[in-house]
Amino acid sequence: EKGNYRHFMQKEIFEQPTVVGQTLGSYLRQSDGTVALPQFDFDLSSVKRITIVACGTSFYAGMVAKYWFEQFARVPVDIDVASEFRYRDPVLEDGGLALFISQSGETADTLAALRHCKEAGQTIAVVVNVPTSSMAREADLLLPTHAGPEIGVASTKAFTCQLAVLAALAANMAVKKGHMDRAEEQEVVRHLFEAPACLNAALGHDEDIEAMAPLIAPARDVLYLGRGPDYPLALEGALKLKEISYIHAEGYASGEMKHGPIALIDEDVPVIVLAPSGPLFEKTVSNMEEVRARGGQIVLISDAEGLAAAGEGCLATIEMPSVHPLIAPLVYAVPVQLLAYHVACVKGTDVDQPRNLAKSVTVE
Ligand code: F6R
Repeated sequence: EKGNYRHFMQKEIFEQPTVVGQTLGSYLRQSDGTVALPQFDFDLSSVKRITIVACGTSFYAGMVAKYWFEQFARVPVDIDVASEFRYRDPVLEDGGLALFISQSGETADTLAALRHCKEAGQTIAVVVNVPTSSMAREADLLLPTHAGPEIGVASTKAFTCQLAVLAALAANMAVKKGHMDRAEEQEVVRHLFEAPACLNAALGHDEDIEAMAPLIAPARDVLYLGRGPDYPLALEGALKLKEISYIHAEGYASGEMKHGPIALIDEDVPVIVLAPSGPLFEKTVSNMEEVRARGGQIVLISDAEGLAAAGEGCLATIEMPSVHPLIAPLVYAVPVQLLAYHVACVKGTDVDQPRNLAKSVTVE
């Protein structure tokens, strides 16, 4: 079943252009450049607040989506991990949309949060990869990802497909609320349809990442930095590395470095910087310079323009295609997945079945 791949995780990383394309194809119409959600009996224009609840990697997809819902649809978003949300007596106003994101559709804490929101009268939207799952059955608005079965315990293709669906949902809500006109909608659809080719281009750097993995494998600690929608990607990169290589890793918002974590920096702590060129690039690079000034070893992940501007003096660089900011979180998922994967291979850990982890967490 793994075909020519060594691990399911590797196979699933490489499936992303295809499955993201399939997922986009079911939410976007290329012919007229519009977003078309599945039929449901609910008026998205009436949503006053969105509450996003998920766990782990799915939670990070939700964090990216918060930027999109706020930027495009101008709807305030609350987001929490399910295990915290359930126990903090959240305020849920009438007319709220509660959005749950889950690969399996069975994660116990997320499912319990869903039931809590349902009882509190929220409309329940679910982004889920298993269409027969409990969450899918209990949703008012079911938004399937079409990633296909994900076998590797570390989530990869489900994440990028979740992002694809969430971008479509945010754009559709923006249209319904009158914050996005036809031309802007077409523009968003066009950029989203660029994602599969850009994912392919990112995968084209697999060998470069494999070649630099031995530089990271001996580290005891690794930091990941990003800003804006790339901040959740830093968190996701750190989670992937911890899960499968057992190296301690943390993701930080670049601007938070000087508020504490910079004290950790020395030449033994690699710092992975996610910085596509664009409006936040300069800010991230100045945070990167702060790290470098303290002897930090930087791995810069950026496009050709970004690497030309700031790649000098880095421990390593990973080149990404130049992409529109909307799809950067999908594309930059690839290098962080591949880096974790290759570091784990260097260390010889069990990539598909990491210790202490289960694919579906059905206990609270
Ligand atoms: C990380 C990972 C986990 C899951 C989390 C939620 O690679 O796989 O963090 O993302 O357990 O699972 P789902 O999405 O099935 O609710």
